[in-house]
Amino acid sequence: MSNPVETTALTKRYGAITAVDELNLTVRGGEVYGFLGPNGAGKTTTLRMLLGLVKPTSGSMRMFGEAPGAGYLDRVGALIEGPAFYPYLSGRDNLRAMADHAGVSRARVDEVLATVELTQRSANRYRTYSLGMKQRLGLAAAMLKEPELLILDEPTNGLDPAGMADMRLTIRKLAADGCTVLLSSHLLAEVEQICDRVGVISGGRLVAEASVTELRSGGTLRVVADPIDTARACLSSLLGEGRVLGAGDALDIDVEQAQAAQINAELVGSGVSVSELRWREPDLEQTFLELTSVIHKSGYAQQARTSPSAVISPRSLRRASGPPSLDRAVNSPPGGGSDAG
Ligand SMILES: Nc1ncnc2c1ncn2[C@@H]1O[C@H](COP(=O)(O)OP(=O)(O)OP(=O)(O)O)[C@@H](O)[C@H]1O
Ligand SMILES: [Mg+2]
Repeated sequence: MSNPVETTALTKRYGAITAVDELNLTVRGGEVYGFLGPNGAGKTTTLRMLLGLVKPTSGSMRMFGEAPGAGYLDRVGALIEGPAFYPYLSGRDNLRAMADHAGVSRARVDEVLATVELTQRSANRYRTYSLGMKQRLGLAAAMLKEPELLILDEPTNGLDPAGMADMRLTIRKLAADGCTVLLSSHLLAEVEQICDRVGVISGGRLVAEASVTELRSGGTLRVVADPIDTARACLSSLLGEGRVLGAGDALDIDVEQAQAAQINAELVGSGVSVSELRWREPDLEQTFLELTSVIHKSGYAQQARTSPSAVISPRSLRRASGPPSLDRAVNSPPGGGSDAG
């Protein structure tokens, strides 16, 4: 079966700004794909192009194997920035109007209201809704036609922590029922919790793509030993220099967790005294920050350019550059504005 989303060198320029830059994106059937990037990275523009709301400058896209203009939009539900509802109608009446227009039963309206847990407030006017309630109504609207693909632009935007958790659960449930989901986010933790696969977009380009499992697999073994130089030499000859990282009196070894005992035995056998041997989980946040910011200063931007869908592992990336400042969200990548140029 054709992939729900496939773009080839998809590009959108606004004058001097390249919002989306030769993007190759593939979303496979049944997966929850996280489109992750800082503000201004080009997420919304990409999603708008997929929905036919914005005309690409160049490149091509196919949805379910069909070219734009074909009937694929009937199979797609979307929640994009600021969904349009009638302010003086209730949430339920808004959905009923949409359902009538789309030839969907009114029973379905009650179903989706229940799914997003808005039944209780569904008789209230839209204009009295909180941001989170508006967002949930938006999701309900996107689900009305029982779409095969849901495109959600920052679906947890404006939700409180409990609302975010509910939204994540709802999305996972939809995916479990066979719906493919493409969602955008600038929150790594969120994408990590909801998605099967992640594409990182920065400056309009896909700079990395990996499954969440792959992203999590880049841990290292921390070794504190004495004498450290002997330890380094021993492990370098055993594993290769490139896999022995770190400076000072600690080493970070790029191995599998299960190799810890063997590493310890090798070191002790070389007369090294080991005072610490600890598995360190990968720092996904740092990986993400590096991908979306430092990447432009390192050779990786070039790599992404020559191979737009390059898979860059956190492991290889960690070696590429030093740690930038940490921030849970990535609104402000180091180096100022993130607008494409
Ligand atoms: N209609 C427009 N006219 C001019 N520039 C635009 C337009 N729409 C988007 N852009 C520019 O394109 C770039 C990408 O914007 P886009 O909204 O796609 O980013 P985003 O990743 O969705 O960001 P955010 O996380 O803030 O929602 C930005 O530099 C933005 O200013
Ligand atoms: Mg956006």
